[in-house]
Amino acid sequence: MTLPGDKSISHRYAMLAGLAEGTTRLSNFSTGEDPHSSLACMEALGATVVKKDDGTIEVTGVGGNFVQPKVDLDCGNSGSTMRMLAGLIAPHPHTFTLIGDHSLTLRPMERIRKPLSAMGARIDLVEGHAPITVHGGPLKAIDFDTPIPSAQVKTAVLFAGLQAEGTTSLTESVRTRDHSEHALRAFGATLNRTGEKLSIPGGQKLKAIDAMVPGDLSSAAFFLCAALLFPESNLILDSIGMNPTRASLLDVIVALGGKIKVLNVEEQHGELIGTIQVNVAPGGFNGTTISGALSAQIIDELPVLAAIAPYTRDGITIRDAKELRIKESDRIALVAKNLKAMGAELTEYEDGLSIPGGQKLHGAAIDSGTDHRIAMAFAIAALRASGDTEIHGAEAAAISFPEFFPLLDTLSQR
Ligand code: S3P
Repeated sequence: MTLPGDKSISHRYAMLAGLAEGTTRLSNFSTGEDPHSSLACMEALGATVVKKDDGTIEVTGVGGNFVQPKVDLDCGNSGSTMRMLAGLIAPHPHTFTLIGDHSLTLRPMERIRKPLSAMGARIDLVEGHAPITVHGGPLKAIDFDTPIPSAQVKTAVLFAGLQAEGTTSLTESVRTRDHSEHALRAFGATLNRTGEKLSIPGGQKLKAIDAMVPGDLSSAAFFLCAALLFPESNLILDSIGMNPTRASLLDVIVALGGKIKVLNVEEQHGELIGTIQVNVAPGGFNGTTISGALSAQIIDELPVLAAIAPYTRDGITIRDAKELRIKESDRIALVAKNLKAMGAELTEYEDGLSIPGGQKLHGAAIDSGTDHRIAMAFAIAALRASGDTEIHGAEAAAISFPEFFPLLDTLSQR
C-alpha cells in the first residue's frame, strides 16, 4: 500500500516553492486539506499553483518577493500553515492578515509572535490568538532558544532568518522534526548545525526543485496500530517517510510487539524513504510508557496509541505531552472522554494519560471534536470493540487523510 504524501513535508515544499525562483514539481503531494491551505496562501501571495490530473502539483514561485495579498490568508484548520507562514512572510514589506477556522483561532500564537517581533516584525494577535496581522519589513537576525518543543516555531524562525540581515541561530530544548532543515537545503539554502545549535545566514535566495513527497508516517500510524490489534497481520507500506526525527513511532510499535522489516531505504532531498513490512505475532501485544523527548517526537501519534491502549496486555502510560491539550482539540480530554464512553478505565493527568491494559471495550457514540486525528484514532479503537461505534464529525479525517475510511474498509475486508 502506498500512502499520500507527508503533511509536514508538503507544507514546507509548498511554502518554499512559493518563495523560490522557478517552477517546482511535487509528486505525491499530501491530499489533506491542510497542505492545500498552504498552497492557496501561496497563490494569494503571488505564486502560481497548477494541480495536474496525475496529482502532481506545480508551483511557480515569486522569486523572493511576495506581493501584497488582496485577501486574508486563510489557514483553515492548519496550525502549521499559520505559524510557519508567519515567519516566511514577515520579512516582506506588506501587511498580511492570517485567519483560520474556529479550532485554529483557539490555538496559541504568542509562541511565534515573540521571536518574530524580536527580529523586528510587528505582529498583532487577539488575546494571544488569530486572527494575526503581520506588519512585515526588513528583519534582523536573532539568537533564539525555543522553550517549547515545536517544529512549527523552529520553522517560523528559520524561514524568517533565511531572509533576515545577519545569521539567525536557534537552539531547541528537544530535537523536533527536521523537515524544514532538509527542505531549505533542497531549495538551495545554506544552514548549519553545531551540536544542538542551528544557524542560518540571511539574505538567501531559493531555487525550484523536483521532488516526490514521501508517504505520511503519521497517517500510516493508524494502520500500524490496527495491525497490532489483529495477530498475524501483514502490512506492507511502500515509499513511506522514515525521517529519524519521525521514526521513533516505529520503535514504539516494536516495543508494543510489532515486528518491522525495513526494505529499500533511499534518500531524497535529505529525507529517508523506505518500504516497511509489519507483522504481529499471535498472543496479544505489550504495553509501554511514553514520556520525555519521545512524547514530543510522536506527539501526533499519541491519540491512536492511547486509543488502542486498553487492548494491550499491560496498558500504555503517556506523560510529558501537555502540548496535546492545545492541538486541533484538547486531545487528552477527548481521548479520555471517548475511551470512557467505550467503557474503558483510565487516569487523566494534565500532561498525559495512564490506560490499563486487558480491557474490553464496547461501541459508543464518539465525539471527534472535529479533530481529524481523534476521528481516525477511534475508528481504530472501534475495530476491536463489541457492537457499533458512531463517530461524530468523522469527515474531519480529510484534514490530513481523506482516503482514511475507504482504505480502512479495504484493509478490514481482506
Ligand atoms: C508539525 C509540528 C507539530 C505537529 C503538527 C505538525 C510540523 O506541531 O503536531 O501536526 O509540521 O512542523 P508543533 O510544532 O506545534 O509541535
